[in-house]
Amino acid sequence: MSKWIATSNQGFSPYGMEELRKIFSPISFKQLIPGEVYQFEVPQENDQVIAMLSEAEKIFIRHVQPIDRMIDITGDAVVDGQALADMVSYIESSVAGKRVAVHIRFSHSHDLTASKLELKQAIEEALLQAEAEPVKQEPDLIIALFAHEQEMLIGFGTVEEMGSDWPGGAIRFQREEGQVSRAKFKLLEAEKVFGLDYSNYSAAIDVGAAPGGWTSLLLERGLKVTAIDPAALDERIVYHPKLTHLRMNASNVKLPKGSFDLLVCDMSWSPNEMSKLVLSLAPAIKPYSYAIITVKLMHKKGLQSIKDVKQRLSSSFTILGAKQLFHNREEITLFLQKKG
Ligand SMILES: C[S@@+](CC[C@H](N)C(=O)[O-])C[C@H]1O[C@@H](n2cnc3c(N)ncnc32)[C@H](O)[C@@H]1O
Repeated sequence: MSKWIATSNQGFSPYGMEELRKIFSPISFKQLIPGEVYQFEVPQENDQVIAMLSEAEKIFIRHVQPIDRMIDITGDAVVDGQALADMVSYIESSVAGKRVAVHIRFSHSHDLTASKLELKQAIEEALLQAEAEPVKQEPDLIIALFAHEQEMLIGFGTVEEMGSDWPGGAIRFQREEGQVSRAKFKLLEAEKVFGLDYSNYSAAIDVGAAPGGWTSLLLERGLKVTAIDPAALDERIVYHPKLTHLRMNASNVKLPKGSFDLLVCDMSWSPNEMSKLVLSLAPAIKPYSYAIITVKLMHKKGLQSIKDVKQRLSSSFTILGAKQLFHNREEITLFLQKKG
């Protein structure tokens, strides 16, 4: 038997739970943060759960952490000092010489009086005592703590096992001075989650490009960009020498065959129409080129529309990934590769 905490984007926990029900039976749930964070219990032990999760499709499960240990929150101290020492001694043998990240999250109702910072400092001190190296990024091991009511739920695992090296999978990017749009974060997150490096490509099509957040990122990475959108692009990028703006509806665009090596599309439009447009533009990208596409979730028929879109796009593309990214709202992101 093992217990876990799973996290989805706010409002999407029913979808995450549905995905878990397809993997595990029996399974029981308990809400920790309504709509977002939920505990689940299954008969399998940790290793088996990790193996089963790694093989399953997890579009709406953003992050998981095991509950390996629970500590009572006493309320008056940082946490019970002895309990904290016990926790570190419990893992001490496995942390020496390792890079260890501490991820702390609180539910909306918990009895902890310490701040996240105080707690983190206390644990990092204990880690140093145990000859581990506290780090933020690229850890060998994550210690994840979730304070809920009178309990601290604690789990240990790797980035691969938890699905992210950010607490709860809530990846943050620095907002830059003069950033064209917040949409840029979605393309940045897709790059990280799907293991891409946009600077490896030379010419991109951006369908539904305005005001130009995605286009600006691709230009920054050195790509030539053909941006398609009847709406205007931000004046900070519109005169960029590597940009061509086709100011028209994408359904009227004709592009030379095989002349691009990346296609991105963030049209925020009906998935049906979006699929048609992407398929009509597919001949313009070379075989085996990648595409990053957002799919709007229409009228609560989310799962069905994802299925339909995948089915349609699979005539020209292999579906490599499907994920609701932290920066996606009522949508998910698909990672595709054009067939040969
Ligand atoms: C969510 S915005 C895109 C934001 C953009 N990714 C960014 O980073 O700034 C959606 C855009 O799709 C465009 N769009 C919708 N339908 C389109 C179509 N048929 N052809 C071209 N553009 C379209 C809209 O004009 C709108 O500017």
